[in-house]
Amino acid sequence: MTAEAVIHAVNLTRHYRIKSGPFAAPAVVKALNEASFDLYPGQTLAVVGESGCGKSTLARVLTMIEPPTSGELTINGHRVELKEGEPPPADLRRDVQIIFQNPYGSLNPRKTVATMLEEPLKLNRRDMSAAQRRQAAMEMIDRVGLRPEHVDRYPHMFSGGQRQRIAIARALMLHPKVLVLDEPVSALDLSIQAQILNLLADLQEEFGLAYVFISHDLSVVKRIADDVIVMYFGQPVETGHAAEVFSHPRHPYTQALFSATPVADPNRRKERMRLQGEPPSPLSPPPGCPFAPRCFKATSECSLEDPPLEPVSAHVNVACIHVEKARLTLRP
Ligand SMILES: Nc1ncnc2c1ncn2[C@@H]1O[C@H](COP(=O)(O)OP(=O)(O)OP(=O)(O)O)[C@@H](O)[C@H]1O
Ligand SMILES: [Mg+2]
Repeated sequence: MTAEAVIHAVNLTRHYRIKSGPFAAPAVVKALNEASFDLYPGQTLAVVGESGCGKSTLARVLTMIEPPTSGELTINGHRVELKEGEPPPADLRRDVQIIFQNPYGSLNPRKTVATMLEEPLKLNRRDMSAAQRRQAAMEMIDRVGLRPEHVDRYPHMFSGGQRQRIAIARALMLHPKVLVLDEPVSALDLSIQAQILNLLADLQEEFGLAYVFISHDLSVVKRIADDVIVMYFGQPVETGHAAEVFSHPRHPYTQALFSATPVADPNRRKERMRLQGEPPSPLSPPPGCPFAPRCFKATSECSLEDPPLEPVSAHVNVACIHVEKARLTLRP
């Protein structure tokens, strides 16, 4: 682990025990399995995959809304030891903020923008006077591209894009180091998406923020990611440098997922691979590799064991027995 990583995650795992019926024994949903990565200031880690693959579960674990079932989480050099139902240490909670897809759900309809932005300062910055808090809120409103007269308005008086700007402003009031963005632009029109992505890029540069950017939209992620985790059925199946993964996807799932995104060039359309079928039920996982039942490369060997993530180049790891492994020479 390098000292300056803002998030150091090792094998983060989150399982849920659920009851599927009044007489059924409790079953375990493996929502997230062994996600590992390092995230540095100013960098963006993209997390992609189909619905239900565990993206939001990872977001909840990283923001300490829930503890991992197992694995290690280190934020800003501090190892997080969270118990179920226990609030995280205040300083670590300040360092990692979350932005959701629908800011309407996370903004209090009865509070003005000024009240919402000043609230975190009231709770955490007792050294600041009311005038200083107002000043800080006004500066942030300006920084996220809203106007001074907006501060006395309520959430319902804004458009979706403006509401997302308010949510971003509120998340930044205590100068966090990391923003976990869970589908932050998925509910917005394309032109508004671009504006919010530009704003996020500017803020990242200005404040040295690290982003965990969750999205099912690969065209969005491609533009902004430094690193990527491709998830399938709760498991990272391809991880590493985004430029390499995007230009040369190796896992059959990554290949299918990427080729399912629309391509403008009509000559390339016929190369598109179809991602057929649905992910398996978490209550009855298939034996071996969970992607095998949908995989165009699958052989009988694939149902024997769930392949681990292994390096396939200096910067990329893949979990698939049909992908050629790099012969990396490890120095003693
Ligand atoms: N509290 C919970 N109890 C039981 N199962 C859960 C719980 N939260 C999530 N799950 C299950 O864990 C899996 C991962 O869910 P998660 O919400 O992380 O997926 P996601 O990738 O964010 O999906 P989407 O793209 O639809 O938002 C799903 O099978 C989901 O049903
Ligand atoms: Mg989700």
